Amino acid sequence: MRALTGIKPTGIPHIGNYVGALRPTLELVGDKGCDVNLFIADYHALNLVSDRAHIRERSYSIAATLLALGLDPEQCLFYRQSDVPETFELTVFLTSFTPKGLMNRAHAYKAAIQQNREDGKSEDDQDVGVSMGLYIYPILMAADILLFDADIVPVGRDQRQHIEFARDIAGSVNAVYGEGTLKLPEGRYGKDAEELPGLDGRKMSKSYGNVIPIFAPDKEILAACKKVKTDSRRPEEPKDPDDSILYKLFKIIATPEEFQSFHDRFVPGGMGYGTAKTELADLLIAKFTGPRAEYERLMADKGHLDALLLKGADKARTIATATLDRIRKAGGFHV
Ligand code: TRP
Repeated sequence: MRALTGIKPTGIPHIGNYVGALRPTLELVGDKGCDVNLFIADYHALNLVSDRAHIRERSYSIAATLLALGLDPEQCLFYRQSDVPETFELTVFLTSFTPKGLMNRAHAYKAAIQQNREDGKSEDDQDVGVSMGLYIYPILMAADILLFDADIVPVGRDQRQHIEFARDIAGSVNAVYGEGTLKLPEGRYGKDAEELPGLDGRKMSKSYGNVIPIFAPDKEILAACKKVKTDSRRPEEPKDPDDSILYKLFKIIATPEEFQSFHDRFVPGGMGYGTAKTELADLLIAKFTGPRAEYERLMADKGHLDALLLKGADKARTIATATLDRIRKAGGFHV
């Protein structure tokens, strides 16, 4: 059984990334029950990241983050998408089996044209700002998955449509070349990243400026925790856990024992918000100080990161080439 997941190279990680993507990914690799492909989706970032010049740097950053948080690269296939060029041949192959109408229904594309409509663009201009890269993003993602005959794809629920598309596209190929030419993957949907509130209670997101970074200096982590929004209850008053951002953050990050101790002192009253904020900062600092040092060490040696990622890509390409040969053969191309 093979599980495969891709992670976009975001900037410096914050707790939202940690809880939503990094921690589940590390748990997946720790699960001995299956082979895992974990890759950095750097070609996908070409559409999404405005500072394209920094994609390479961001890829190092996400690789170093995962390693610093304990990823064992020997336990999985860990690689950069761009180091597996077979992905891109398969993408082109799949475009011929993908109805254009399917791509018209993609959420990200629909959101872009909806925005153009709202901005008062004419019908002829509805595709303004949409690159073909954005338009066929789901085909590239299908290629990432189908190239490795992945059985399961653990992703956030927001990726459901992409998984459905990958299955549809694989089905179209199989309808022509026979069942089993491509394996239909199944999505495994984790909890939504939305569940992690930011400093102001909205979803934690860099674009809202409400994040707590994980690898920042202690001072910055404490300063961010001090900014968590609270109400005006006094220390001795009981607190409402359902209505407390601090409580929710603590719950998602702490171990069950740490959380229980916090809960018992916070909810009935007795602990003030100031103390709770400091405790949250202490918890984060204790958790991330070691990984932060390791992250900095890794980022100082890009040659080492490249070697490690290329080693992963080499292993991945052995599988990818075999799949691609199978597909080329089915399509009547020279192998
Ligand atoms: N689209 C995914 C995201 O936005 C990232 C991704 C790219 C991916 N290719 C993938 C995830 C293949 C799983 C499998 O998070």
